[in-house]
Amino acid sequence: MSDAGPAYVLGSDRHELERLNQQAAAIGPATRLLLRAAGIEPGMRVLDLGTGPGHVALMLAEMVGPSGAVVGVDQAAAALTVARRRAQELGLGNVRFVQADATTWRDDEPFDAVVERLLLFHTPDPVAVVRHHAAGLRPDGLVACIDFDVGGARTFPAGPLVTQVAGWLEAGFRHGGADPTVGARLGLILKAAGLRDVGGFGVVAYLAPDDPSGPRFIAGVTRSLLPVITAAGIATAEEIGLDTLEGRIGEEMRSTDAVFMPPTVVGAWGRPGPS
Ligand SMILES: C[S@@+](CC[C@H](N)C(=O)[O-])C[C@H]1O[C@@H](n2cnc3c(N)ncnc32)[C@H](O)[C@@H]1O
Repeated sequence: MSDAGPAYVLGSDRHELERLNQQAAAIGPATRLLLRAAGIEPGMRVLDLGTGPGHVALMLAEMVGPSGAVVGVDQAAAALTVARRRAQELGLGNVRFVQADATTWRDDEPFDAVVERLLLFHTPDPVAVVRHHAAGLRPDGLVACIDFDVGGARTFPAGPLVTQVAGWLEAGFRHGGADPTVGARLGLILKAAGLRDVGGFGVVAYLAPDDPSGPRFIAGVTRSLLPVITAAGIATAEEIGLDTLEGRIGEEMRSTDAVFMPPTVVGAWGRPGPS
């Protein structure tokens, strides 16, 4: 969803925006749980990095309430238009959106908390991003990061098609400069950025063999990543067969009675300053 600023491997078309909507619905409960555990509270002034169409910023606006405030930053103008419209529809007057490079943006006023979901995944130097934003917090402020560990994604029992597609996706993400297992290292990233009292945990969903959201999730990510996968020579469009991929994955899962565990949603949090 990149209109300006650094390249973003998943692109910005309507399929990607729709995919982000479906993904946000799927990981919304895990996100809320992790943000609460991290310490997001009413009255806080919170920054949401790489806000996209604003799902996390709007959740935060509700969590901090009218006495708090939220700023969502993203480089993609189209996504921010959606985010602003949603805030208006929901009657949330305590959230605003800024188009900027979220890795380096700084407000004049300090924040109580800085949050990111699925931005560090796409960031070449996550430690530098966390360090930069930790320095923009009030004393004893909070850094809360939520990101995927794709390494945890699998079907049980494993099927050849899902295993093959997972390999294409991981290679595609890495080729495009993303780190699909960044969630596994979130706590280490926060410590390397100088944060103290670092904690966190991961949340995994278990989707039934006939749940259509599993095949839809895998096919949706493949659609957005297809240009990178084919250009890098990881797989051809014919091998991937995007038009029938979702159906074939669903068939494999149902015929083997396979449960799908999507990427682990990992949260990690900490506070700046020496312990
Ligand atoms: C996977 S989406 C996540 C959106 C949202 N945080 C969520 O969890 O639903 C990643 C977002 O980060 C944005 N992004 C990536 N690199 C960025 C950068 N350097 N500055 C601002 N936004 C960036 C993209 O435009 C995209 O909206």
